[in-house]
Amino acid sequence: MKVLGLETSCDETGLAIFDSEQIDSPNQGLVGQVLYSQIELHATYGGVVPELASRDHIRKLVPLFHELLEQCQLSKTDIDAIAYTKGPGLIGALMTGALFGRSLAFGLGIPAIGVHHMEGHLLAPLMGANPPDFPFVSLLVSGGHTMLVAARGVGQYEILGESIDDAAGECFDKAAKMLGLPYPGGPNIAKLAETGDPNAYELPRPMLHKGLDFSFSGMKTAVHNLIKDTDGSDLAGDNSNDQVRADIAASFQHAVVDTLVKKCVKALKQTNMRRLVIAGGVSANTHLREMLTRELGKIQATVHYAPPALCTDNGAMIAYAGFERLVAGQADDLSVSCVPRWNIDELPAVSGSVAIAEQRGNGCSG
Ligand code: KG4
Ligand code: ZN
Repeated sequence: MKVLGLETSCDETGLAIFDSEQIDSPNQGLVGQVLYSQIELHATYGGVVPELASRDHIRKLVPLFHELLEQCQLSKTDIDAIAYTKGPGLIGALMTGALFGRSLAFGLGIPAIGVHHMEGHLLAPLMGANPPDFPFVSLLVSGGHTMLVAARGVGQYEILGESIDDAAGECFDKAAKMLGLPYPGGPNIAKLAETGDPNAYELPRPMLHKGLDFSFSGMKTAVHNLIKDTDGSDLAGDNSNDQVRADIAASFQHAVVDTLVKKCVKALKQTNMRRLVIAGGVSANTHLREMLTRELGKIQATVHYAPPALCTDNGAMIAYAGFERLVAGQADDLSVSCVPRWNIDELPAVSGSVAIAEQRGNGCSG
């Protein structure tokens, strides 16, 4: 089944085609993908402007669709189904992809399905070379969410804990801004941290010993105070303070990662599970991946993640999540309704949902 995936929940227009019959090929079913980022459009405003985002998705959707078909050497009549992001996200931005996808499916006489953006992130690592079997604990860390979920199958999600304030990615973005680094902050902090000492400064790890919830707003304040306290209050753009900035970036990154890792270990122990899947933009962070591999090795657990391009927002994860539901017989009717706020544990379950693992005739190790 060839599924076209459309992602327009925020500031990336992502389109991809996933073909379940090519899952064993080197491309692991991902026939092709195109991505357009609006980062530059919003940069001058210091954050995403919803109305500008919607208008830009409208401009880009059709040309990107043609570019994707050309890249895949396919015609639109080769597509068997369409999956689009239905929520959570910016309502105007969501509507552009949903209306485009639903109308195209109607015109082609094929099924369409609205996908939960965070389920897309959660299932993306299943498209990788070493897909985990259910059940697993998933750490979902993006710009808008930080949560630990026990996943027992597709749509069988139990939220174990989540951030009571800022998301981890949001905290990376805010700390980066204070250090004079551009958006998105995560990759820029990670790069600056390479030349810094992660133990140079002691930053707080809020709520470390309180259940599985997170709190990151205190860390943001701590970085603010650190910048004020370290010689010369304005570090942004001041070359003489390069080492101090790198040390702050490394210490901050280490504090966030250390908190995430400790909560993951706790969640695995609490659920008696042996597999951890990390997903969402922050899961591209190398320090997080390295620390998890090391710490989980100590408790005989394994960590699984998607390639970096499938960690941040993209159309492939939406195509794949849509496929898992379509193959189980789910599809939407002709109406289009997007859901800006939508909890992942409200999704309907897909019974016996191991479609890909079954097709490959293997389960996964670990
Ligand atoms: O999942 P995503 O692309 O979009 C949302 O659904 O929010 O996540 C974006 C977030 C941003 O906050 C960005 O700073 C963060 O992911 N991010 C990273 C890295 N790459 C992206 N954070 C830390 N390290 C990275 N390498
Ligand atoms: Zn996302």
